[in-house]
Amino acid sequence: MERSLWLRATILMCCFFVAPGVRDIKVRNKDYSDIYNHTLATILVEYASAVYMSDLTELFTWTCSRCKDKTEGFEIIELIVDVQNCLQAFVGIAENLNSIVIAFRGTQEHSIQNWIEDLFWKQLDLNYPDVSDAMVHHGFYSAYHNTTLRPGILTAVQRAKKIYGNIGIMVTGHSMGGAMASFCALDLAVNLGEVNVQLMTFGQPRIGNGVFVSYFKRHVPKAVRVIHERDIVPHLPPYYTMFPQKTYHHFPREVWLYNIGFGSLVYRVEKICDGSGEDPSCSRSVPGTSIADHLMYFGVELEAATWASCGIVMNPGTVGFRADTDGNLVFSRDPAAALRQYRAAPAGSAATA
Ligand SMILES: *[C@@H]1O[C@H](CO)[C@@H](O)[C@H](O)[C@H]1NC(C)=O
Ligand SMILES: *[C@@H]1O[C@H](CO)[C@@H](O)[C@H](O)[C@H]1NC(C)=O
Repeated sequence: MERSLWLRATILMCCFFVAPGVRDIKVRNKDYSDIYNHTLATILVEYASAVYMSDLTELFTWTCSRCKDKTEGFEIIELIVDVQNCLQAFVGIAENLNSIVIAFRGTQEHSIQNWIEDLFWKQLDLNYPDVSDAMVHHGFYSAYHNTTLRPGILTAVQRAKKIYGNIGIMVTGHSMGGAMASFCALDLAVNLGEVNVQLMTFGQPRIGNGVFVSYFKRHVPKAVRVIHERDIVPHLPPYYTMFPQKTYHHFPREVWLYNIGFGSLVYRVEKICDGSGEDPSCSRSVPGTSIADHLMYFGVELEAATWASCGIVMNPGTVGFRADTDGNLVFSRDPAAALRQYRAAPAGSAATA
């Protein structure tokens, strides 16, 4: 411990002599490479950002303004829009990650301020099925389990696995989308028996109590919750240290992103937190006061392009979607066709890691 502190200090010292600006410091030791991968985080955050886009044609064809950069070559095989509940998610194949990627949109209704204010009062008001004493927030649970999202996602995963075999599954989302992503990852592990599920969320709220967390980390050991500086949302619903049995509790592992400044130098730190889920030396060491920090992770914008609307934008010529009797939309693509398209693409157009 002392030695690593000393090393860290040395690293800081030697950086004093380089040009001013923002620099990255990675506070980690080699045991952590299993837990958290910075490169992967900067890729998945782009999926969590793209799923906010409201032009469904551009999203489905992966031509939207946020469908670029590190996610190029992604093939959506299912885009699900639950119009009634104003929810959106997609499932697709990222061949450069050798994975299925599932992303959930955060809240789009009303204003983000109102949504955050409501979070203060969310109760642990649902027994998580078949796990005694595990309590969760009913609203987050049912947004995934009791809407068109779950059946759409599970069938898409099964279709993809028929074609691609046993590839991994990465689940992501921002804010409330992170809460839904967490329930989805647990569902895939428990109910589909998927062993290769990775969860990475950005600025998600708490979703359940301590008993739920014990169950969760047993089934989804590869889970990372990234928290940016003083993002207010991960501080909610509140954690009451006085009532450990009754309070909301985060699951591990938090990775806290924050800046430390020395004069004109600013260093970005990524801190891999302890295995409790509620490491007091991570985001909990500062007050959660910022909405701006909530809406930007790794320099990527994580919010709807336009708030206060659940409207759908779609090119009338878009084919391949079906609507249910409630008007919810599912766009599907045959994963075999996606695979053929990928194989046919000129070398280099879809980078392979
Ligand atoms: C981190 O993730 C990237 C992107 O998936 C991958 O290329 C790289 O090998 C990973 N690094 C480690 C140490 O696993
Ligand atoms: C699921 O949704 C239906 C209709 O919206 C509702 O009546 C039912 O109570 C919900 N069930 C759960 C477990 O949330």
